[in-house]
Amino acid sequence: MSTLIRGGTIVTAEQTYRADVLCVDGKIAAIGEGLEAPTGCETIDAGGQYVMPGGIDPHTHMQLPFMGTVASEDFYSGTAAGLAGGTTSIIDFVIPDPKQNILDAYRTWREWSQKSAADYGFHVAITWWDESVREDMGTLVREEGINSFKHFMAYKGAIMADDELLYNSFARSLELGAMATVHAENGELVFQLQKKLLAEGITGPEAHPLSRPPAAEGEAANRALRLAEVIGVPLYIVHVSTIEALEEIKRARGQGQRAYGEVLAGHLLIDESVYQNPDWDKAAAHVMSPPFRSKEHQDALWKGLQSGALQTTGTDHCCFCADQKAAGRDDFTLIPNGTAGIEDRMSVLWTHGVNTGKLTINEFVAVTSSNTAKIFNIYPKKGCIQVGADADLVIWDPAATKTISVKTHHQNIDTNIFEGMQVTGLASHTFTRGKLAYIDGDLRAIRGAGEYVKRPAFSAAFDALAKQK
Ligand code: URP
Ligand code: ZN
Ligand code: ZN
Repeated sequence: MSTLIRGGTIVTAEQTYRADVLCVDGKIAAIGEGLEAPTGCETIDAGGQYVMPGGIDPHTHMQLPFMGTVASEDFYSGTAAGLAGGTTSIIDFVIPDPKQNILDAYRTWREWSQKSAADYGFHVAITWWDESVREDMGTLVREEGINSFKHFMAYKGAIMADDELLYNSFARSLELGAMATVHAENGELVFQLQKKLLAEGITGPEAHPLSRPPAAEGEAANRALRLAEVIGVPLYIVHVSTIEALEEIKRARGQGQRAYGEVLAGHLLIDESVYQNPDWDKAAAHVMSPPFRSKEHQDALWKGLQSGALQTTGTDHCCFCADQKAAGRDDFTLIPNGTAGIEDRMSVLWTHGVNTGKLTINEFVAVTSSNTAKIFNIYPKKGCIQVGADADLVIWDPAATKTISVKTHHQNIDTNIFEGMQVTGLASHTFTRGKLAYIDGDLRAIRGAGEYVKRPAFSAAFDALAKQK
């Protein structure tokens, strides 16, 4: 099967140039000006548009069982929505229950993800510790292509990792050449503040950000980074939402630490005023952790992304509909935490990043695709346009506009945090391993067409570091 994308301008993280792209059997087979279409080859006209690596969302939770319910978006509907927005791969999370065998949990998520329409991989959360977990982490890295382990420093009484667990798992990650990652919030502090707010009779969504102050995130980011520094393991902090956490990452990087930060499209563009909405459902629809913050934090996050202190953008796509959020009507701590975004990440970042001059088009590719591929060791299979790479491509129309709405989105959720936002710059065509999965409003995602992407352990540099420790 072959497709020739003709007449577009290729944009990668490094370069912008005019060339055609020939895709054969799912891979990029040739790049050059005036390429001939082989017999039987479909030709797509990309004139006046950009041809970019498909987006990679490093942070999604499809059909996650969480807080007494299950996320409404499954691996098919979620990856299909991603394809409609130009995202061609996700890295989701296996989250074992405490005491659940982590290989069993991994197999369960692999089963659920069979229906994916786009390629996917997993970070595996370490939610408890014993010798079997230590052993099984090795199996996951060596045999299953897992190279990152996630630790939730929040969600006390459920999946929270204490310092002992962080120490053990970070040290084991280093031994294995895997990346440690954290959700950085001080879970004990959040728990105590939640109890205090409830005791004071503050029970609505407006209490959610009060229970998760920026200092709780800054403290946890500092603690995780300091542990990682002593152990010598690289650390990736997911959904950085505050100046406090960003400053810790900058400090660590400035001292030569391998520290990475991800920012969510939502945290860049939505502020904390959403929790003051008198309509309970609308306020609850924005309950996620860490919460949306003040404009001051948003400005700092943009600068972090522009300066390279933050390297990736994700969504933390974790969908709960109004009937699910209603579980917390009398107690905000019971509102399932999570919001959507996979379909809109690329267009909102283009609109508010590229169109405002904050990001160049090449930086846009870096922060939506290439940097994630590099940090999680799937580059150049993913995240780039070169011969031999997977033909995960998006043809991007910088002039196309739309108004984001729940009425027209493909995500399986009854709200959209970007509702009413006018965006300029949209995917016109999305290819997943050479197959056209989206063309100008026509979503052709195929259930089960996505493949699991193994991510190899990191290089000998980390092995050498591990031996020194
Ligand atoms: O509120 C969120 N972010 N829900 C999903 C789980 C997590 O913390 O990433
Ligand atoms: Zn999280
Ligand atoms: Zn998450």
